[in-house]
Amino acid sequence: MQKGNLSEIAESIKKCQRCDLYKTATHAVPGEGNPQAAVVFIGEAPGFHEDREGRPFVGNAGKYLDMLLLKAGLRREDVFITNVVKHRPPENRDPAPQEIAACSVWLEEQLAAISPKVVVTLGRWSLARYAPKSKISDVHGTPFKTGGVVVLPMYHPAAALRSSQTERQLTEDFLKNKDLLQNPKTADQITETFEKKGQSRLSDGQGSLF
Ligand code: URA
Repeated sequence: MQKGNLSEIAESIKKCQRCDLYKTATHAVPGEGNPQAAVVFIGEAPGFHEDREGRPFVGNAGKYLDMLLLKAGLRREDVFITNVVKHRPPENRDPAPQEIAACSVWLEEQLAAISPKVVVTLGRWSLARYAPKSKISDVHGTPFKTGGVVVLPMYHPAAALRSSQTERQLTEDFLKNKDLLQNPKTADQITETFEKKGQSRLSDGQGSLF
């Protein structure tokens, strides 16, 4: 993957017509944060507020994410936050497989540019990129390494706002992984056990899901 510049990638995302979502969206939401971040958070897709502002996680789920970051000793500016899909799906519907596939080039480019040590997947869509066969309820909170990066699966903050049990679990998962999030270099000590178990597509030579 070519190592592009994050702001150039963002400009390309703003002009993107690779799927139809741009037709109904107000603004593209490329993502934001530290271009040298060791930790990248990947959500699902922009919602109403993100679409209006062109920024990721600025609605209620975003405020909740900010609070979780603080609990783990991080600020938004320390990390990079983006989504699997960069334009809002109408009525916040789930992104369609062809939309995810069309948009994946941007996430690939962003990750190649940032080269993070840890990727935190928020919800099932971003988890599917790394572990398509895994269920979030089985794997949340436990980091695994695949393709040289440590992936930390977490519930989506919006799910935590709907369920107090998920909220408790998400908070616990953040606190449990505070060391990894604050000192992402410790990710180097994690071995590619997940890949060896053959649960990830990256392990069977197919590259990423998209
Ligand atoms: N939910 C997401 O997955 N991403 C956002 O940017 C906002 C809400």
